[in-house]
Amino acid sequence: MLTKLNEVKAHAEKMLQEAVSIERLNDLRVKTLGRKGEITLLLRSLKDLSPEEKAELGMAANQFKMQLEEMINKKTDEIKQQEMEKRLIAEKIDVSLPGLPFMRGSKHPLTRVYEEIRDIFVGMGFNIAEGPEIELDYYNFEALNMPKDHPARDMQDTFYIDEEIVLRTHTSPVQVRTMEKLAPQVPVKIIIPGKVYRKDDDATHSPMFQQVEGLVLDDRITLADLKGTLMHFARKMFDADLKVRFRASYFPFTEPSAEMDISCVMCKGAGCRVCSNTGWLEILGSGMVNPKVLEYGGYNPEKVSGFAFGMGIERIAMLKYGINDLRLFFDNDRRFLKQF
Ligand code: PHE
Repeated sequence: MLTKLNEVKAHAEKMLQEAVSIERLNDLRVKTLGRKGEITLLLRSLKDLSPEEKAELGMAANQFKMQLEEMINKKTDEIKQQEMEKRLIAEKIDVSLPGLPFMRGSKHPLTRVYEEIRDIFVGMGFNIAEGPEIELDYYNFEALNMPKDHPARDMQDTFYIDEEIVLRTHTSPVQVRTMEKLAPQVPVKIIIPGKVYRKDDDATHSPMFQQVEGLVLDDRITLADLKGTLMHFARKMFDADLKVRFRASYFPFTEPSAEMDISCVMCKGAGCRVCSNTGWLEILGSGMVNPKVLEYGGYNPEKVSGFAFGMGIERIAMLKYGINDLRLFFDNDRRFLKQF
């Protein structure tokens, strides 16, 4: 039996020496320590021996079993380590190689212009409010003092979803929605950015465009506040010494109403193609909030007054960057977009 043990030992040690890969070590483990392995079988056969022999040989065999297990584990770790080192050398990164080029995106010009407009008003203490693009006829027209048969609806022909639901034609409906939420609280100082829709389509009109609306309510708001606020905005946005003028106009939801013009940003008022030789550019519509709209919104027109305005972001961007075709904003041509 002792010779048998020595044989098994010798065989196992030889195999261990020759094992140069993880697979061969696993193989060795099965052949010696596995269920039908040489050492396992040997240990099993001890049961036929005398108690003394059993004790002596059993101890020796168990000791070897433990030693062998340890050696196999050690060698396995060594080989794994070596393989890892080899891989690290082979995969070494050459930091001096030029990097892979990747294209950097940029903000859409309309986003940039909106952010500029927003920052000017936020700088004056305005908050931002938003509302739905699919809007009730009630908010888009009715509560803005445009009943069903009102001729002013013609100016803003829109897409009807059904008789009571439309794609909003302006951001003004959010005036009333905000008033409903806040009344009778004052002051209210908000801008309302968002997409709007109209049945128009040419070089200066798109069926979808973007507006920034403004609404200010307090107990003593006058036309002077409207003028001062909008003049400050225009000078920050375009040119610190531009001139503004207000022309009487009509909107059902403001009274009185005015369009604001700025002196032409191209020719500074001398007259050029951009301003059709008038020296002026129209940039927004505005007015004092009509008392009827205040009532729809839940405010008492005896106590609260305010002004509102609305401008098209595309138009401001076209003037700011001298772009003559609105459709360029929506074509997604990178040659255009990357200029901003
Ligand atoms: N909603 C108007 C438009 O789209 C603009 C406007 C807003 C006018 C607020 C006055 C006050 O034409």
